[in-house]
Amino acid sequence: MKTLIRALPKAELHLHIEGTLEPKLMFRLAEKNSVNIPYDTVEEVERAYQFTSLQSFLDIYYKGAHVLITEEDFFDLTWAYLLKCKAQHIVHTEIMFDPQTHTQRGITFQTVVAGITRALEAGKEELRISSFLIMSFLRHLSQEDAFTTLAEALPFKEQILAIGLDSSELGNPPSKFEEVFKAAKQHGFKLVAHAGEEGDSSYIWEAIRLLNVDRIDHGIRCDEDRTLLDYLVNRQIPLTVCPLSNVSLHTVKDLAHHNILKLLNRGLLVTVNSDDPAYFGGYLNENLEALSEGLDMQASELRHLVKNSFKASFLKEEEKETFYQKIDTIYKALLPSESITSPGIYPNS
Ligand code: ADE
Ligand code: ZN
Repeated sequence: MKTLIRALPKAELHLHIEGTLEPKLMFRLAEKNSVNIPYDTVEEVERAYQFTSLQSFLDIYYKGAHVLITEEDFFDLTWAYLLKCKAQHIVHTEIMFDPQTHTQRGITFQTVVAGITRALEAGKEELRISSFLIMSFLRHLSQEDAFTTLAEALPFKEQILAIGLDSSELGNPPSKFEEVFKAAKQHGFKLVAHAGEEGDSSYIWEAIRLLNVDRIDHGIRCDEDRTLLDYLVNRQIPLTVCPLSNVSLHTVKDLAHHNILKLLNRGLLVTVNSDDPAYFGGYLNENLEALSEGLDMQASELRHLVKNSFKASFLKEEEKETFYQKIDTIYKALLPSESITSPGIYPNS
């Protein structure tokens, strides 16, 4: 399975660029920028990264982001992730960033976007990795703050494809951001939102009905509601699931109890993603390997999940088709005895 996981071209659709800040880079930037961080060694960092909930993670994650000051810092952060993509054969990525985490500290919107997009452009040229950028609102802040951030994003519309919603879910339901999502849609942005990570299935319904999202980030609590499950199957609304994140944040007891393969085999359009890989113990391939070990994922399920990563992306249909074919060719070459008639893309093949 490891060989197959490595060999297949993959897309990643749920990745916070601030969540790729590895301790080594954090130490280097802290020193360069004279920013205090509460750790001196990697061991101290590892001890601090024992989370008990989403909020316990966010508190540490926002502190880590304080070391990011200059455009070069955002370039270095993004470039390091793209090199990881190259090593893991991720050929397309849709990256989220949280501008408010930075603008609140006096870093300009322009600094953040310029650093990230310069790296993404270099990634296209030098590494052949395609990418889109998703700007997320912090849901613990007000809708008014989100409107200010949306206004700041408008001069960068060429660089930002979609709008998202993240941070502390409980007590901050999608309904809080209905008006700003409506405005973002009118400006032509695609829409995504975290929902059903810690929050219950009503958060997923709200993201669909009130925010009109194209995709749900996480969404694993959909299994509490049969009507919602049927709805997600019928409409093929994608869920970008992050298994190692769910275990780290205790939203799922362990991988053996994760519902991702049940959702997949019920016909939901689920994908695998790493969320904040520097904090949750692994990038995309490690998430897939963990499913193979913890849930006994089969090769045909892996193929289905990897095809879904393109199907759920914002790529054009003809680009998706090219990747489906590449996946099938590599799958057949590595597993010549496996039937390719097993479910590939629900509900057609
Ligand atoms: N920001 C970064 N990672 C997040 C997650 N898993 N949930 C909500 N907000 C986040
Ligand atoms: Zn996330």
